[in-house]
Amino acid sequence: MSKLLLASNNPGKLIEIQALLQDLEVELVTPALLGLELTVEENGQTYAENAALKGLAFARLSGMLTLADDSGLEVDALDGLPGLHSARFSPKPGASDADRRRYLLERLEGTPPPWPARFRCLIALVTPAGVVRSTEGVCSGEIISQERGQNGFGYDPIFLIPQLGRTMAELSMDEKNQLSHRARAVLAARPYLADYLRNESLTDEG
Ligand code: IMP
Repeated sequence: MSKLLLASNNPGKLIEIQALLQDLEVELVTPALLGLELTVEENGQTYAENAALKGLAFARLSGMLTLADDSGLEVDALDGLPGLHSARFSPKPGASDADRRRYLLERLEGTPPPWPARFRCLIALVTPAGVVRSTEGVCSGEIISQERGQNGFGYDPIFLIPQLGRTMAELSMDEKNQLSHRARAVLAARPYLADYLRNESLTDEG
């Protein structure tokens, strides 16, 4: 079975992506599992640049086909913040996901709801030779002020999917994987991945 390196040790992302690729002949491994340690400066101007930076760095280090994702939450009332800064959006040192959710809600105080928002995910699939293919997925919803649900990670408990009347954290992983930004980006990347598994190379971008 071929191995695919995920350029992240985020357990939430690992579980979701593993489920999305379970029918392919590929074993998803993490840097931690391989004993690889690398901190990649995410200093790109876009999600796509950051995903490619992470993917290229891990593909180079491991010599393996690598899947990197960069994702974030964009809140209209905050002019698109936290966006690229979603993972670090709190002034508190060592902030947790819960701290970041609290800080986001603090920033929204004074702006009347509804607070439309979207999650965005960019995937970079990177070959050991350094060829990059990027795909994108978006999931729209709105921020709510009361946390709901125990599943998922990050901003999921305050991200409502209006059509379902449930937050992302109230969805099972299978349900989240039907509609999430990451699921949509991974779905778009699957043809490239399947192609690589067949030919050990990537066809040109459509
Ligand atoms: P990244 O590791 O640079 O992609 O950081 C993305 C950050 O955006 C995460 O740490 C979360 O705070 C947030 N985020 C991304 N995807 C999700 C999701 O599916 N649910 C909740 N928060 C997410």
